[in-house]
Amino acid sequence: MEFQLSEEHLAVQQAARDFAQTELLPGVIERDEHQKFPAEQIKKLGELGFMGMMVDPKYGGSGMDTISYVLAMEEISKVDASASVVMSVNNSLVCWGLETFGTEEQKQKYLVPLAKGEIIGAFLLSEPEAGSDATSQRTTAEDKGDHYLLNGTKNWITNGNSASVYLVMAQTDVAKKHKGINALIVEKNTPGVTVGKKEDKLGIRGSDTHSIMFQDVKVPKENRIGEDGFGFTFAMKTLTGGRIGIAAQALGIASGAYELALKYSKERKAFGTEIMNHQAIAFKLADMATEIEASRLLCLKAAWLKDQHLDYSRASSMAKLFASETAMKTTVEAVQVHGGYGYVKEYHVERLMRDAKITQIYEGTSEVQRVVISRDILKG
Ligand code: CAA
Repeated sequence: MEFQLSEEHLAVQQAARDFAQTELLPGVIERDEHQKFPAEQIKKLGELGFMGMMVDPKYGGSGMDTISYVLAMEEISKVDASASVVMSVNNSLVCWGLETFGTEEQKQKYLVPLAKGEIIGAFLLSEPEAGSDATSQRTTAEDKGDHYLLNGTKNWITNGNSASVYLVMAQTDVAKKHKGINALIVEKNTPGVTVGKKEDKLGIRGSDTHSIMFQDVKVPKENRIGEDGFGFTFAMKTLTGGRIGIAAQALGIASGAYELALKYSKERKAFGTEIMNHQAIAFKLADMATEIEASRLLCLKAAWLKDQHLDYSRASSMAKLFASETAMKTTVEAVQVHGGYGYVKEYHVERLMRDAKITQIYEGTSEVQRVVISRDILKG
């Protein structure tokens, strides 16, 4: 067993760390306040090869492994979780889904520009009445011979407005329940596609979250991913990898808050000494460091299993469950360590606390992760 990162992994980690400090940190507070999408920064992340990190270079990607992806996600998320969710959805859900299950034509047309970061993608599964209960899709994709006719509404779509390409799950045959769902590639500028209102969110406010409406949208048959009825399996398999990305995002939010709390506790004096010398603070730092390290190991284990082509479903849910709970707990404590300063924007920890909450909700709530883990345990 090897617990040391390779030279290549350390280089990816350093590149992400440098990018976060030089490109993301300036302006992160303003982007959060004004809900400004980090368009320029995402373009640069694409130039760095971080928008299609794991995609084969022959399709415009960087050909890196999942461990590199976790390392980069942690560093980017320490500073700007709005930028990292854009990166995560594009990498794990859109690029991975297309590279693994798409046709050669779909890869050439869509994956190449997505992996290069020239365009952004979005993943459209959630609906007003289908969140955790993802099999209850109401969006319909009626089979019309050479095309599908798409109708319905999707909710909570990350990159909803900034994406050019949507991967949409929709029901073709209700009688077949989840086996009647298809995954379709839909270009945003297709007639009948409407981008709904932008959500005014608690956290990750720089990312754009929208509802998307489809009214009689014609989608060519060649834009279906996989066989007829493969859509739900596609969504589940894709989300299994996506959960590693969100786990790494949660890890980054936690470690970013911890680093700020540690720095502050070495500077701030109270009762005649730096506050880190008070056990009340030191014990908080000890708990934070321990839980962050456990989260990191779970993330890296899930990534390693994926890279070895072993089953990583339980591991990715465990990583997401533990890292997201750690992110919430750690950021709350980081605010506490900062006292009143933690409650104002310029110290960053209040934003990290708001950002942390979503990691317990999207790409499967903590409760969904417990369902996945417990079912896997009971399977034996
Ligand atoms: N891989 C392959 N197949 C899978 C699978 C997986 N990981 N998980 C389930 N399936 C299959 C099952 O085998 C089953 O198929 P069969 O009937 O052929 O056996 C089918 O899918 C249905 O599975 P379940 O009976 O387990 O379904 P369920 O209704 O009990 O739901 C669930 C299980 C785990 C709760 C699932 O619905 C789920 O993951 N829900 C959460 C959805 C989610 O994560 N949404 C996130 C939205 S995207 C997002 O957030 C992106 C963003 O913007 C950041």
